[in-house]
Amino acid sequence: MNILVIGASRGLGNTLALLLHQQGHQVWGMGRTSPASPSPFPFHYLQCDITNRAQAYFSFQQLIPMPEVIVYCAGRAFDDITEDAKNQNLLLPQLHKNFELNCFGFLKTIDFFLPLYLKEKRGHFIYISSLSAIRENHRQRIGYSSSKLATNKILENLRMQYFCSNIKFTTVNFGRLHHRKHALIGINYQKASKKIAHIICNYNRSNRCYYLPKLQTLLTYMTKFIPSRLYKKLMSK
Ligand SMILES: NC(=O)c1ccc[n+]([C@@H]2O[C@H](COP(=O)([O-])OP(=O)(O)OC[C@H]3O[C@@H](n4cnc5c(N)ncnc54)[C@H](OP(=O)(O)O)[C@@H]3O)[C@@H](O)[C@H]2O)c1
Repeated sequence: MNILVIGASRGLGNTLALLLHQQGHQVWGMGRTSPASPSPFPFHYLQCDITNRAQAYFSFQQLIPMPEVIVYCAGRAFDDITEDAKNQNLLLPQLHKNFELNCFGFLKTIDFFLPLYLKEKRGHFIYISSLSAIRENHRQRIGYSSSKLATNKILENLRMQYFCSNIKFTTVNFGRLHHRKHALIGINYQKASKKIAHIICNYNRSNRCYYLPKLQTLLTYMTKFIPSRLYKKLMSK
């Protein structure tokens, strides 16, 4: 399959792109900076800032043949309610940055590829989201989880709108992601990548929202019953 991984310079996107390449897929990677490892880089890579519309659309036009699957791994949590940000009137610009990357970057991707997928009558968008969309677990951020939640909702609506077509919109909400092999909370990049590769191969059953890992998902849902005052105390420990 032809697969585009956005945010492939490091972290999850990098591990995923390498895994898909090893599995024999034709992979395109995209990211703001060039990947540090491995060297030489084994798949096609385009350097592009996805928050810049002109750059993003120009890069998308270079992708021939067109990717049938797009995995949006680009994402970052910008601190927006630190004392510094509040004192310097940075709350809004920082909040905006969260939405530009975590939400509008993906919407640009959909805006460009959806008409092409409608013509082809097939295509798959996969968005990497976060369990913090269920309940925020960062202390100095209000924009990160809200940008993820907004995008999750957009995908839910797109799934409804295009339910009868063969175009899929998949959301994968991950808990803490890390390089370590074993950890009580979260999931490592390798395991998370295998899960995404599995979703890509199961195209016909993929039009849905996933939450991983299960234990952290359960614990995150349970925190919804903790009153805000107590939750804030727990989070500040
Ligand atoms: N890490 C976690 O604990 C965790 C938990 C749940 C969900 N997630 C989500 O999972 C996804 C992957 O996380 P990760 O840990 O792999 O993050 P990461 O290591 O920080 O990697 C983020 C990737 O996004 C790219 N990126 C950032 N800004 C970009 C821009 N403007 N244009 C193009 N590419 C850009 C980065 O490229 P550059 O290096 O070139 O900037 C990098 O390749 C993110 O959406 C994140 O929100 C992460």
